[in-house]
Amino acid sequence: MTSRRGALIVLEGVDKAGKTTQCKKLVQTLLESGRPAEMMRFPERSTKIGQLISSYLENKSNLEDHTVHLLFSANRWELVPLMKEKLEQGITLVVDRYAFSGVAFTSAKPGFTLDWCMKPDVGLPKPDLVMFLKVNPAEAARRGHFGTERYENCAFQNIVLQRFEELMMDSAVNWQVIDASRNIEDVHEEIKNYSQKVASKAVTEPIGHLWT
Ligand SMILES: Nc1ncnc2c1ncn2[C@@H]1O[C@H](COP(=O)(O)OP(=O)(O)OP(=O)(O)O)[C@@H](O)[C@H]1O
Ligand SMILES: [Mg+2]
Repeated sequence: MTSRRGALIVLEGVDKAGKTTQCKKLVQTLLESGRPAEMMRFPERSTKIGQLISSYLENKSNLEDHTVHLLFSANRWELVPLMKEKLEQGITLVVDRYAFSGVAFTSAKPGFTLDWCMKPDVGLPKPDLVMFLKVNPAEAARRGHFGTERYENCAFQNIVLQRFEELMMDSAVNWQVIDASRNIEDVHEEIKNYSQKVASKAVTEPIGHLWT
């Protein structure tokens, strides 16, 4: 096992903020600069738990709200051994949504506190950097039609944004807010700079535990 680990980098943001676009570009740039990097996404729909989540998001099945929250968390936990293995191999992971989306979305539903929503994800590998792609939901919606999946509406996304803002007040997490209303290349440039800095630093520090 090498002593130089990869960095855990997460991109968050409301629907259509540009997360997937920027994750792909970041992985490409990291690879070009000679740094091993791979993309991951949550939910990871290919597992058995992921298939339950996917069917729920596509409105093909209904699940009780607490249950679906725990499934999203379980979907992250089931990938933890793989994530740790990759990080230890020196691979930088660029992750499209993580626990923060899980908490922001469920806590946007009536009757859920931020605190309850955070509990199942306590102890997950802690990202070295979480970049929040900030764009107002109305503007994001103009980038592409909201689809037919659950949660894809402006009113809900506005509450999700408020929850993200509460999560960002936690200074124990290395948040960087990125103005994602700019063009794709400008946003990428900023993301690239933060990522390269943190990836160089991460290799010498052990991976932390989220929300502990
Ligand atoms: N900075 C940008 N300016 C304008 N359009 C953009 C920008 N970034 C991405 N887009 C476009 O907006 C759409 C949504 O981008 P993308 O799929 O990357 O967002 P996302 O945050 O991953 O969305 P989702 O939450 O639905 O997965 C795409 O058509 C993409 O090409
Ligand atoms: Mg996406």
